[in-house]
Amino acid sequence: MRKKIIAGNWKMNVKPSETAALVKGIAEAVKDCPDVEIVCCTPAIDVPAAVAAAAGTPIGVGAENCHWKESGAYTGEISTGMLLDAGAKYVIIGHSERRQYFGETDETVNLRARAAIAAGLTAIVCVGETLEERDAGKLNEVIVRQMEIGLKDVSAADCAKLVIAYEPVWAIGTGRTATPDQAQEVHALIRATLAKLVGADTAETVRIQYGGSMKPGNAAELLAKKDIDGGLIGGAALKAADFAGIIAAAQSK
Ligand code: 13P
Repeated sequence: MRKKIIAGNWKMNVKPSETAALVKGIAEAVKDCPDVEIVCCTPAIDVPAAVAAAAGTPIGVGAENCHWKESGAYTGEISTGMLLDAGAKYVIIGHSERRQYFGETDETVNLRARAAIAAGLTAIVCVGETLEERDAGKLNEVIVRQMEIGLKDVSAADCAKLVIAYEPVWAIGTGRTATPDQAQEVHALIRATLAKLVGADTAETVRIQYGGSMKPGNAAELLAKKDIDGGLIGGAALKAADFAGIIAAAQSK
């Protein structure tokens, strides 16, 4: 049984001074969900406040990116050691917004993912196709390429610290969600690709999240699918009641 994992991706939306209220609001709104792993991935500058506010709650804290070098002349970057030192336990890697706007490639995703896992962070590695790629019939090719390069040299043992997030780019922030069947089809492809990379037994243990306009109203039917093991939530993670509603939907699955 894979434990469901619901993670918020706050993106560039919450100030340090606003962080404690959101984390505490989520903690108060979440009622008795022992079967769900709950994560808030925050801007790096919010991590210390989020960690402090999450103390004594079931909420784990993560960041939205990390660099692969431990230290050095990399202006503007954040190392895995810095995140761990601040109390983060998770990090999102290769979100489509980083690929689209900040030159992230499958190769840099691989460097960041391996560094995060080696440091002991849980890496939430994002994959997903654009609408153009889907319409051009390239869905499978894109997902397999993102996984083969992004997870190169990630071992079966490393998979204990790996979560994959399937985020169709056309569903992010658009209000347009993949149907449960559309999402399940890609999740099955992701698991089959993982099986080729690290073996079928290990592939069965890796959680695969869906991300893209997930809300309390559509979470249950997505999470009911065999290979959908959680959600990576943008907009709805910024409202405690909505995020708690998604967590409740995951608990009842
Ligand atoms: P939305 O839930 O706002 O569509 O964002 C999804 C996402 O990008 C999570 O990483």
